[in-house]
Amino acid sequence: MRLNDCHNFHDFRRLAQHRLPGPIFNYIDGGADDEVTMRRNSAAFETCDLVPSVLRGVSEVDLSTTVMGQKIDLPVYLSPTALQRLFHHQGERATAAAAEKFGTMFGVSSLGTVSMDELARKHRTPQVYQFYFHKDRGLNRAMMEQAKASGIQVMMLTVDSITGGNRERDLRTGFSIPFRLTLGGLYQFAIKPAWGIHYLAHEKFSLPQLDAHIDMKGDALTIGRYFTEMLDPSMNWDDVAQMVQAWGGEFCLKGVMSVEDARRAADIGCTGIVLSNHGGRQLDGSRSAFDQLDEIVQAVGDRIDVMIDGGIQRGSHVLKALSLGAKAVGLGRYYLYALAAAGQPGIERALGQLKAEIVRDMRLMGARRVAELGPQNLRFRH
Ligand code: LAC
Repeated sequence: MRLNDCHNFHDFRRLAQHRLPGPIFNYIDGGADDEVTMRRNSAAFETCDLVPSVLRGVSEVDLSTTVMGQKIDLPVYLSPTALQRLFHHQGERATAAAAEKFGTMFGVSSLGTVSMDELARKHRTPQVYQFYFHKDRGLNRAMMEQAKASGIQVMMLTVDSITGGNRERDLRTGFSIPFRLTLGGLYQFAIKPAWGIHYLAHEKFSLPQLDAHIDMKGDALTIGRYFTEMLDPSMNWDDVAQMVQAWGGEFCLKGVMSVEDARRAADIGCTGIVLSNHGGRQLDGSRSAFDQLDEIVQAVGDRIDVMIDGGIQRGSHVLKALSLGAKAVGLGRYYLYALAAAGQPGIERALGQLKAEIVRDMRLMGARRVAELGPQNLRFRH
């Protein structure tokens, strides 16, 4: 199987599975507990149908939109995700370059493997910094300062990960950071030699956002344990209000799900929220962002930007979210499988396909602009 054989999400996923050592593939692919929420994230889009309008004269389709103060050419952005150089040696560099090519926004994670500063210097497309609130307040201050100094446009604080989700696939495979080739890993190396050669031939694994502050003392932690041991479960609304003040710019919370929390985010000065259950990787059994979208847009859509992520595999999923009032839609696994499959050309192919699907579906829906999509385009099956 090759890149040219990839025509949709599932093809990229299969190619990624073929290329990656099992523990790494399963880290991306897996969710918490029984993975019910992870499955629901995609299934939720099938609970409603698009109702097209015809004869609207849609020769031109404009996909541009403004979200978190950033004008982007596509109503989708690449959500911050961790550890990308493990998936492909180009890692975040490929993600940023592909985002720029498509004129959209990308995120860099606190657990990113390329520094936010390098990417900000190299790329003109808007960048989000994904912030994990650590117990180490010095580290928190340093990350804020670095993000400001780098000219990052949007701060995105993850609020759904104060303790680690129960990711049983990682427990089984032993996947942990800092990533090391353990005995099991050596076996994986032997059966996925192309991945192993790239991994060894390129820059050593590192976490530039954290390395100066965190000493793992030779320990290796699963991501679940990392969250539990390093992140601060006492984080509260006052801490966040202070961060919003200190940042003084576009600031969103990722992982808000309830109306009350959405209102509170607006009250403390956040300019956006991302409805998210972290790809089903944290609280299994929690609601999908799409299922919760309408209620939240009704409550705060006139005050702050509402984004969603989780389960997006198709252009029609994006249209459904936009129809309910999402300002933009975040992609995670969608581009990570493509990254793992083929680096930057992989992400570009996946984004090109998604863009083509959105344009085609907009035409078929009779919508020339994102703003023309609305709840009138959807019917839910009760
Ligand atoms: C994860 C984190 C690191 O879900 O975002 O694995």
